[in-house]
Amino acid sequence: MPDILITEKIRGAAVDAMSKQFEVVTLPDLWKNPNELLQRVGEFRALIIRNQTQVNAALLEAGKKLRVIGRAGVGLNNVDVAAATRAGILVTSTPDQNAISVAELAIGLILSLARMIPAADADTKQGNWNRTRFLGTEIYGKTIGIIGAGKIGYLTARRAQAFGMKVLAYDPFISKDSILLSEINAELVSLDNLLERSDVVSCHLPATKQTAGLLNAECFARMKPTATFINTSRGEVVVERDLIDALKSGAIGGAALDVRGTEPPVHGELEKLSNLILTPHVAAFTHEAQDRVTDAICEDVCRVLEGKHAMNAVNKIQDRL
Ligand code: MLT
Repeated sequence: MPDILITEKIRGAAVDAMSKQFEVVTLPDLWKNPNELLQRVGEFRALIIRNQTQVNAALLEAGKKLRVIGRAGVGLNNVDVAAATRAGILVTSTPDQNAISVAELAIGLILSLARMIPAADADTKQGNWNRTRFLGTEIYGKTIGIIGAGKIGYLTARRAQAFGMKVLAYDPFISKDSILLSEINAELVSLDNLLERSDVVSCHLPATKQTAGLLNAECFARMKPTATFINTSRGEVVVERDLIDALKSGAIGGAALDVRGTEPPVHGELEKLSNLILTPHVAAFTHEAQDRVTDAICEDVCRVLEGKHAMNAVNKIQDRL
């Protein structure tokens, strides 16, 4: 009897080790075919996914034997956790394993915008030597506003501080004893205050009903015309139309997006903007982070199937009968 179904590209030593103990079926493109997934899910006790497989109420209903959903990553916007809880299915994720990689990409994008690295590279490769065209700005002495002061926000702030940046933070859920405030001496401010004072605004928010479209025209209008906006969290938190308008009108100086409202996106106006850097949701895609994520998710799924407690459960369930 098969035990574990992997519906996206997840490989590595941990998957091989897990396959010695459990029957694992890996169908890395299955997420593209929800109807087939719906037909097959009933055979399995565990599902391991990334961010593409849509785990909705219908899929959970069809997964009669499911005990655990393992989300290899941190965002849970593709999993109906409430429906899983009602169905008695544990959901586990890897909350910390890719945080360093995401923070490193955020810093890379901040520097890329400040020094126009992608544009200078492309221009030089065309045979030019335009030194004065690429007169950049230092980030030393500037202010970074971190929206969402969880683990990734904290790690980004720490790195920004090492570059000599002053840190502002906005997070309605942050506690007064948060390490971001105590270790980094970040100033906790309102969203409006952060937008008005920051030279760089870096977004580290989950996609929820509360954060959907949070960064809109009004927010971009509050920012300094020289400020840059970085999003390595979730595309849904930004109104893309408003960002395009802000970049075109000069309301803000530049932006870098690793994530989009729809992924893969339909290419359109964003791709034509010269003051925008785009990457294809690769913040967590480093060898180190992917190894850690795979190890952690395989370990947790195995633990649940062995009747042990999951290390990173995101919901609480009654034992399934
Ligand atoms: C995450 O949520 O872990 C990252 O954005 C990468 C992913 O979605 O798989």
